[in-house]
Amino acid sequence: MLKEETTATPPPSPPHILIFPVPLQGHVNSMLNLSEILCLSGLHVTILLSDHTHDRLLRHASLRSRFSRYAAFRVATISDGLPADHPRSGQRILEIVLSLKEVGGPQFRRLMEGLSDGGGGAPRVSCLIMDGVLSFTIPVVEEMGIPFIYFRTISACSFWPYFCIQEMIDAGEVPLKDKNEDKLTYWKRKEMDLMVTSVPGMENLLRRRDIPAFCRVEDVGDAGFQSIKTETRRTTQAAALILNTFEDLEGPILDQIRKHIPNLYSIGPLHSHLKALLKEKGMESSHHSSSFWKEDDSCMGWLDSQPPKSVIYVSFGSITMLTRDELLEFWYGLVNSGVRFLWVVRPDSVVEDRIGNGCGNEIPVELVEGTKLRGLMVEWVPQEVVLGHPSVGAFFTHSGWNSTLESVVIGLPMLCWPYFADQTTNSRFVSEVWGIGLDIKDTCDRLLIERMVKEVMMGVRRDELLEKARGMANMANKAICEGGSSHMNLNRLIEFLKSTAL
Ligand code: UDX
Repeated sequence: MLKEETTATPPPSPPHILIFPVPLQGHVNSMLNLSEILCLSGLHVTILLSDHTHDRLLRHASLRSRFSRYAAFRVATISDGLPADHPRSGQRILEIVLSLKEVGGPQFRRLMEGLSDGGGGAPRVSCLIMDGVLSFTIPVVEEMGIPFIYFRTISACSFWPYFCIQEMIDAGEVPLKDKNEDKLTYWKRKEMDLMVTSVPGMENLLRRRDIPAFCRVEDVGDAGFQSIKTETRRTTQAAALILNTFEDLEGPILDQIRKHIPNLYSIGPLHSHLKALLKEKGMESSHHSSSFWKEDDSCMGWLDSQPPKSVIYVSFGSITMLTRDELLEFWYGLVNSGVRFLWVVRPDSVVEDRIGNGCGNEIPVELVEGTKLRGLMVEWVPQEVVLGHPSVGAFFTHSGWNSTLESVVIGLPMLCWPYFADQTTNSRFVSEVWGIGLDIKDTCDRLLIERMVKEVMMGVRRDELLEKARGMANMANKAICEGGSSHMNLNRLIEFLKSTAL
């Protein structure tokens, strides 16, 4: 008997998602959380890190133990093209993106060619999820017929003004600096308080000083500014946009963005979404560090010995650089407020030499004594754990988006001192839209800091801030539970990702 001829179609290879964050702490944190969520959903995931970032994670984070339970998780690396001693912080972070743009293309092509035939035992890459400013990857994936998705790790409320930069230029609202103007004082001009009219949905809300601070340039030809403007607008070419936010927090702005980018998945707050999914699956979700610096756990014992809600936690994130004068203003403000404080001062975060180095830069004795009495200063902490400690009553923050969401989830009122980038917009929303904090941008004065620290910890507005913060925390929690907006959006995203492998 003749056997029936069959043309055996090979089984579809499983979805394999390549995730490519900008190599900075906040971005990597969000992307690692997304990576783990996708692993939990049975997808193959490769995360592409810079050599520098990978090295930091191997030294200080628990990357290996965190992902050892996912056989389908891999790490690939690429050089960011910068010398080892480049600070990769402060105002120079845009150099990372510009450098990657220059040196990343050929490296990315080699990587993709290696992965295209199932190199390294992984299936062919079926989709690229990348930070929104890494478009040098697009020609390579387009050539290979692989779809790409943008994951902007910033808020919707800062993404949207970035998207509308051309409109702000046309309306004369950007650039924010005048040529030849004193660089240190331009932000004191009263024009900075004029309302922005050219960002739909943000009229009567955003002042010029609240526009993302990368727009604080004097020349629209500035390379970093141009890169953000064109890269953000390019989001419309992506198969989808992912944002780490939730509908109850930023619904009206998400609706504005959807008019241009309908395939938008709001799936945040990602860090607590991940915890909820691990719990759902009965998996252990203890603290795993993804820190670029060594976490100092000694602060937990100190927090244990403080009364409930008595400590203000102070941290300006992973990039902020302070001048010596700013450091002293914060320090005096905190000590003079009489409030207990836990303050993270990164080893690389003061522009001039560290004070107290025996070069005439000694720390004033009243600060040393005041800190001994009521404060603790450390170089880096497990922030999510600290924010959840019962002794912490408020968060003095630079309004980085991860920090903001971590605070929202706990329901802590915030005092905001944005340093740059998206933070100037986030802090406006925290204070004026969500009513869960106070914004002191563009000032750094010990008297004001003293007053505002007291205000957020024990002032007349404390109860109102706390009530709104707790309400927002409830909404964040609902969003990630079964039937919640972020939960449903994540399911839709996973279906979409699975379909890319067919
Ligand atoms: C900045 C931006 O402001 C942010 O919005 C953008 O997406 C990336 O660049 P960064 O300064 O890193 O980010 O702030 P943030 O986004 O808040 O991220 C900092 C992360 O470091 C948080 O997840 C926080 O928990 C963690 N952290 C901070 C620690 O784990 N320990 C610390 O001591 C301080």
